[in-house]
Amino acid sequence: MSVKKINVAIVGLGFGAEFIPIYQRHPGANLYAICQRTKSKLNAVGDAFGVERRFTDFNELLKEPTLDAVHINTPIPDHAWQSIAALKAGKHVACTVPMATSIADCKRIVELVKQTGKKYMMMETVVYAREFLHIKELCEKDELGRIQFLQASHQQDMDGWPNYWPGLPPMWYATHCVGPMLALTRATAEYVSCFGSGTIRKELIRKYRSPFAVETAHIKFKDSDLSARIYRSLFDTARQYRESIDVYGSKKSFEWTLIEHEQHVLHTAKLPEEKIPSRVKTPDYARLLPGPIRRFTTKGVYDLAKKTHLSFAQGAGHGGSHPHLVHEFVTALTHKRDPFPNAKQSANWTCVGLCAHQSALKGGAIVKLPAFTL
Ligand SMILES: NC(=O)c1ccc[n+]([C@@H]2O[C@H](COP(=O)([O-])OP(=O)(O)OC[C@H]3O[C@@H](n4cnc5c(N)ncnc54)[C@H](O)[C@@H]3O)[C@@H](O)[C@H]2O)c1
Repeated sequence: MSVKKINVAIVGLGFGAEFIPIYQRHPGANLYAICQRTKSKLNAVGDAFGVERRFTDFNELLKEPTLDAVHINTPIPDHAWQSIAALKAGKHVACTVPMATSIADCKRIVELVKQTGKKYMMMETVVYAREFLHIKELCEKDELGRIQFLQASHQQDMDGWPNYWPGLPPMWYATHCVGPMLALTRATAEYVSCFGSGTIRKELIRKYRSPFAVETAHIKFKDSDLSARIYRSLFDTARQYRESIDVYGSKKSFEWTLIEHEQHVLHTAKLPEEKIPSRVKTPDYARLLPGPIRRFTTKGVYDLAKKTHLSFAQGAGHGGSHPHLVHEFVTALTHKRDPFPNAKQSANWTCVGLCAHQSALKGGAIVKLPAFTL
């Protein structure tokens, strides 16, 4: 008996456009529609990828009775209300990071998933990136030994990005750091303490009343001997773009490279000092995917700008994670299981950042993760 394909609509066609050809080729999915506000861009993208159903109004899209799921890639302030509206309309939701920018909205989404029985997945790229998959494989083969500590960073200069970015508290967008550490250990965050450091330009502080150039948080894992450290900067801090994870084990430790495109480093215990570090090239994990979408783990399969004659702020990439995200979401729906991360896990990862920022504003006070995320 053949399984019904999942009808998916992509909402927001900047970063979101990257996912169109993947859903079009996934054996369990049907790219049902696309949605975005500007009609000219909607049509340019729709024509380039041969998508017939096009919507400029998200609420109109939700009225489609045969639509099963939405994949939301709109600006950060739209994630929560669109996820809530879609769940209320009986649609499954995949949403880019972060889940929301308030704890109340995270709670509402978790509650709605419980009430409706629909699925929610936060599309965190790092937990499906080849680096993460490689570290996970090392853990599964017990090559690292006992995990002793984890740390992660995400630094980016967001000057010149769309209007919801300027001044955004760094920890409000911390899931690229938090996600991999909790995903690797299958742990839940219990409480955090965070310090703010430095000061951004006056005009950047106004919108979110967040003065910090850098935020550094410690996270205590629940029912575990582990804790982790994360740090983030978005403005007025000189640093090449970096999303990184370091995992320290009793036998081996993985450290993300300091400079993009250099090879990462694996440290092996008990060797002569100069032999402890060795360079590692992370393999590609396309083999985990259905044949028709394997090629999308490789950067630059599609040049969206060339294909649509539009400019895109986002390029392909994110460690080859995009087809893995689509595959996880679609197979979770076809197999009627929770995706990873599910709503509660997504809320825990997102709320680590929201609680961390609260902590920074209170000079580092311990802030407990809300009970609905535990
Ligand atoms: N690695 C990652 O996980 C990653 C990478 C890039 C972007 N993102 C996230 O993706 C989102 C989009 O990023 P971007 O750079 O493409 O932003 P963008 O501002 O360039 O694009 C947003 C798109 O959403 C559309 N849109 C806005 N409001 C809408 C509405 N109400 N209904 C339908 N469409 C609407 C816009 O027309 C635009 O096409 C952001 O939230 C960002 O955080 C995540």
